Amino acid sequence: IKGNAGSLRKYQILRQQGLMPSKQLPTALIIGVKKGGTRALLEFLRLHPAIRAAGSEVHFFDHHYIKGFHWYRHRMPPTLSTQITMEKTPSYFVTSEVPRRVQRMNPAMKLILVVRDPVTRAISDYTQVKSKRTNMPKFEDLAFLNGSKIVDTTWVPLKIGVYARHLERWLQYFPLSQFLFVSGERLIVDPVAEMARVQDFLGLKRVICEKHFYFNATKGFPCLLKSEERPTPHCLGKNKGRSHPYIDPVAIQRLRDFYRPFNQRFYQLTGMDFGWLT
Ligand code: A3P
Repeated sequence: IKGNAGSLRKYQILRQQGLMPSKQLPTALIIGVKKGGTRALLEFLRLHPAIRAAGSEVHFFDHHYIKGFHWYRHRMPPTLSTQITMEKTPSYFVTSEVPRRVQRMNPAMKLILVVRDPVTRAISDYTQVKSKRTNMPKFEDLAFLNGSKIVDTTWVPLKIGVYARHLERWLQYFPLSQFLFVSGERLIVDPVAEMARVQDFLGLKRVICEKHFYFNATKGFPCLLKSEERPTPHCLGKNKGRSHPYIDPVAIQRLRDFYRPFNQRFYQLTGMDFGWLT
């Protein structure tokens, strides 16, 4: 193309017509929730030829907003006009400024939220931190105030799980119809059905299906037979699907009681039953 005006012009026309890949701002986001299964969802979505997604978490709307839309667009992979640009940054769901910023950039943004039982989610979050730290206090000592029965609602792994509160904030900026709520639990037991919902929501042909998955009994999770990056069967990395430490069942029940009204409210807002109300 360089040094050849004719070719350059042709290239520009092809680009304008969307026939040459070019970087675009995302039109769909996986906004969370942390430890809900966001990596699995993104990796599964990338099986679709009409999806192009940034590989790592971009953190534009929370950490890098000041850098502007030009910076953001350049973090995206090149796409054809027929393809959807996406990214996932799980902290978006719980960061207060994010909904307003997303709406300002694109009021038609499609928003995908993967949720998981908030108690298991908190334990998963704790397990992740513990894997990187020595001398981590016990989960039970962090979840309750000074050895009492009172839930420490300021502890971030517990705060994140109050999904109804975070969603209410988002609903001030976006209608419910622009959200898709994915069950993190169903994404594990029936990835095909959950991915069918995601593809429908994004207006895509159902390309991701049974033939893409196998259940890896050693890992205990669905894994991929092949993907764009790897032609051979593979699972997500070791840091996805960690085994959790033993937690006192009394503490778990107390947390279930704490979350029950918030979960009920979340079910009401979404019109969905996620099966956590035990
Ligand atoms: P655990 O490691 O606690 O089991 P995120 O990608 O949002 O951080 O979520 C991580 C969680 O995704 C894991 O939490 C795991 O339960 C869940 N997950 C869902 N599908 C998975 C899959 N196919 N392989 C591995 N983990 C998966």
